[in-house]
Amino acid sequence: MSSKLIAPSLLAADFANLQRDIEMVNQSEADWFHIDIMDGVFVPNISFGMPVLQAITKHTKKPIDVHLMIVEPDRYIKTFVDLGSDILTVHYEACTHLHRTLQAIKAEGMKAGVSLNPHTNINLLEDTINDIDLVLIMSVNPGFGGQSFINNTYNKIAQLKELIVRKGASTLIEIDGGVNTENAKALIDAGADVLVAGSFVFKNNNPLEIIKELKTAANS
Ligand code: DX5
Ligand code: ZN
Repeated sequence: MSSKLIAPSLLAADFANLQRDIEMVNQSEADWFHIDIMDGVFVPNISFGMPVLQAITKHTKKPIDVHLMIVEPDRYIKTFVDLGSDILTVHYEACTHLHRTLQAIKAEGMKAGVSLNPHTNINLLEDTINDIDLVLIMSVNPGFGGQSFINNTYNKIAQLKELIVRKGASTLIEIDGGVNTENAKALIDAGADVLVAGSFVFKNNNPLEIIKELKTAANS
């Protein structure tokens, strides 16, 4: 079985000490950097934008997993590949022409991801799953770190896994929001491949150890 991945979300990092926190992730057992881009329209919060991401990718030594919580994401696909994004995830709810958006992301050489809000049903991906490299299931409502995990996520993972297997797709399942060492193993057992963790990693005194514990729990 392939290794399960951990993607710390820099949203919970200390923005005044970003380089320090990035170096910590570089040295850790984490697999990807998860980058949350919010526009204040799709979600009721604004995180950070292109100049900050440019500063971040000067120091990162692992793949960049960008989660766009923005309207009209098509406008910025080229921008994000130029900024060093390896995986570009858009929200299902923000895409009128999802199939076209996925092709545009892949045409730039990035992996294409689709994120679903907690209210968005898995069966809406019936006709696109074979075009999607990664589905990001939101286990909180997007917009803020530090919220509590929504338990219905487990049902959604199981439904998505069934869809992926039935369609013969090779899509990865990523979970984002309220992930910690209490639920990591259960999420993987339900079918997840990648776990995002923000507050649980960066609000701890020993983030390096926390990442190690998440990685161990996810692969136990
Ligand atoms: C929320 C973001 C998450 C967030 C997760 O909208 O998509 O990536 O950073 O934070 P925690 O792990 O604190 O729930
Ligand atoms: Zn995210």
